[in-house]
Amino acid sequence: MTVVDAAAVAQELPGHGQTVCVTGAAGYIASWLVKLLLERGYTVKGTVRNPDDPKNAHLKALDGAAERLILCKADLLDYDAICAAVEGCHGVFHTASPVTDDPEQMVEPAVRGTEYVINAAADAGTVRRVVFTSSIGAVTMDPNRGPDVVVDESCWSDLEFCKKTKNWYCYGKAVAEQAAWEKAGARGVDLVVVNPVLVVGPLLQPTVNASAAHILKYLDGSAKKYANAVQAYVDVRDVAAAHVRVFEAPEASGRYLCAERVLHREDVVHILAKLFPEYPVPTRCSDEVNPRKQPYKMSNQKLQDLGLQFTPVNDSLYETVKSLQEKGHLPAPRKDILPAELDGATA
Ligand SMILES: NC(=O)c1ccc[n+]([C@@H]2O[C@H](COP(=O)([O-])OP(=O)(O)OC[C@H]3O[C@@H](n4cnc5c(N)ncnc54)[C@H](OP(=O)(O)O)[C@@H]3O)[C@@H](O)[C@H]2O)c1
Repeated sequence: MTVVDAAAVAQELPGHGQTVCVTGAAGYIASWLVKLLLERGYTVKGTVRNPDDPKNAHLKALDGAAERLILCKADLLDYDAICAAVEGCHGVFHTASPVTDDPEQMVEPAVRGTEYVINAAADAGTVRRVVFTSSIGAVTMDPNRGPDVVVDESCWSDLEFCKKTKNWYCYGKAVAEQAAWEKAGARGVDLVVVNPVLVVGPLLQPTVNASAAHILKYLDGSAKKYANAVQAYVDVRDVAAAHVRVFEAPEASGRYLCAERVLHREDVVHILAKLFPEYPVPTRCSDEVNPRKQPYKMSNQKLQDLGLQFTPVNDSLYETVKSLQEKGHLPAPRKDILPAELDGATA
């Protein structure tokens, strides 16, 4: 392609001439989001706590990063730094958040940081839409939900229940999302929220984030048994695509549950054991008394209506493990089985 052709192609891209801010740019989800935004022609201002930290080097290696990625130093509790990152942006993706059950570390940065981001977007005067990465933790923690209820965007976690059960991550995400809606309403900011479930799939960053650790523990021998629990899963590339879609679609509004399917832990370990038989995947449940927890029903219709197609969880789990091997977090086995060779493992 000639230089003239390349420039013409670049101008056709949806993000051409648009600048967006991504907070916590070097995180697991945000790294894929930055990659996708760069591919779509956006200029990205990514916030990180220390631009010189080697753990952010993968961002600088992304296609288009040399020309269109600006790393901005910002802690969520530093309003001036957040304002500087958001300045001149047409959109903001607020993805940064602590991911911990320590209430001291979780709640304040999640809530105050979110209010700062919304305020900064309002003050900038150029921001068309803010996309906030909330969580399933703000949706499903409700002990009073009936077994036949289809979990959708109308569901909210019960804050008292989160506190009582010390689920401070879910509590922090739910309160942060509430704060985002309140602040956006008060400041006239167009806010759209993505609520991902547990995110799996390949890692771009060099470190193991919490949801990748959820899979790693079943392979490296650290989990001897699996819990009698159910959880919904989604691929990290679909989560990044959902963020971009709700930003670009003018009709997008409200919350978007981002989930491929709900699995019992037993299903997860079965898939992993079949795909990677050489690892010490647990075969016993830690709860041999209670009946097997039943998966809840969940709707991802809103994102499907925006055209999102979800990656099957078998493929995502396979690629999570391959990625953990490639990055040196797991020894590579002699042979593994391809997801297509699995027959009905999640049925
Ligand atoms: N992964 C999942 O299963 C999942 C599911 C649902 C929702 N989410 C949400 O998705 C978002 C990204 O999560 P992730 O899985 O990608 O986790 P991650 O890899 O741990 O990324 C979190 C990012 O937030 C940054 N951060 C944390 N506290 C900060 C602070 N005080 N100031 C500035 N930056 C801060 C971290 O920066 P440092 O590297 O400097 O710590 C990191 O870049 C979070 O909002 C999370 O709640 C994740």
